[in-house]
Amino acid sequence: MKTQKVLFLTALLTIILCSFVFAALEGGNANRGRQLAIDNCKPCHVQGATAGTVTPLSRTQRQWERFYNKHRHEKIAPGSWASFSEQDLQDVFQFMHDHAADSDQPMTCGQ
Ligand code: HEC
Repeated sequence: MKTQKVLFLTALLTIILCSFVFAALEGGNANRGRQLAIDNCKPCHVQGATAGTVTPLSRTQRQWERFYNKHRHEKIAPGSWASFSEQDLQDVFQFMHDHAADSDQPMTCGQ
């Protein structure tokens, strides 16, 4: 009886730990990122604005990875991402990446 209980608890713990790991691997929340991009990136990146139009289609998945990993935005427009939290940027990245030009579901932000 006691062994069964220990086995059950071990299994439960494993499941809980695994879901944490998967959640971490999944990265940002693309849905939240889409809304963030519409509310916070779009104002500077609408058609005709000096910063130019930016949608997920602006880059391939590989190019988005490089753009983020190399902190390119900070170099070309210093301070413009200052109000975003790490989580915000991660979510926006997920949206851009998941719907990039070469993704399964290429998409704009509805511009
Ligand atoms: C305060 C204004 C501002 C905000 C907010 C902003 N950007 Fe920018 N962004 C700029 C400027 C300025 C440039 C440089 C444009 C140039 O010189 O061509 C730029 C350039 C870029 C570029 C490269 C230009 C291109 O045509 O590919 C990308 C990609 C980009 N921004 C993505 C984003 C994303 C994603 C967000 C939201 C997380 C965002 N930006 C928010 C001002 C902003």
